[in-house]
Amino acid sequence: MIIAIDGPAGAGKSTVAKLVAKSLNFLYIDTGAMYRALTLKALEEGVDIKDPQKVTELALHTEISLLNDPQAPLKVLLDGRDVTSDIRQPRITRFVSEVAKIKEVRKIMVELQRKLGNRGNAVLDGRDIGTVVFPKAEKKFYIDAVFQERVNRRYKESAGLGQNLTAEDVSADLANRDKIDSGRAVAPLKQAEDALYIDTTKLSIEEVVNKVLGFING
Ligand code: DC
Repeated sequence: MIIAIDGPAGAGKSTVAKLVAKSLNFLYIDTGAMYRALTLKALEEGVDIKDPQKVTELALHTEISLLNDPQAPLKVLLDGRDVTSDIRQPRITRFVSEVAKIKEVRKIMVELQRKLGNRGNAVLDGRDIGTVVFPKAEKKFYIDAVFQERVNRRYKESAGLGQNLTAEDVSADLANRDKIDSGRAVAPLKQAEDALYIDTTKLSIEEVVNKVLGFING
């Protein structure tokens, strides 16, 4: 069974997706982590992120893998190197939407995501899972929250990671990513027609997880 969870940044997708996957003993596939890993490599190698051909060329020579151990947090490997925490750096967050809007890059990532998902039962979170990657997913969710709440959550998260960002920095980044992720020509963020919409603004994580599990089991 494939479970697709889409929505904007800061809505709680990944937290919920991880818990749902754990509870069902499904594979968790963080598709944003793949775009982040490629962004990290581009920045490290000085590849111009605004040059689609160069970034595509880089993607073709990059190996991204996700190490799933039900007992441990998901590990992200970039050419065999553990980049799990590096991909959360603010500089990656700032540029990732530019990388993710490149058509050929998306083709490569979508292929990888399908390969991983087709291994068995999986929960995938991202922007285009229910619309493009797995349009036939058995269960689809669109997880949302009002902008200010998403900013608050991401701000707390960044403070917890010891990042020196102000609430204004986080707000500007989210507004920028919302605009690029929703406005891009290829696979923009949008709710699949058959997805269950959940507004998490006033819900606890547990309440959201219960709603998701209830819909899956219902
Ligand atoms: O979920 P996240 O913040 O880690 O995702 C990082 C970026 O990657 C996000 O701003 C848009 C992009 N992304 C995407 O375009 N498609 C996906 N399936 C997942 C993420």
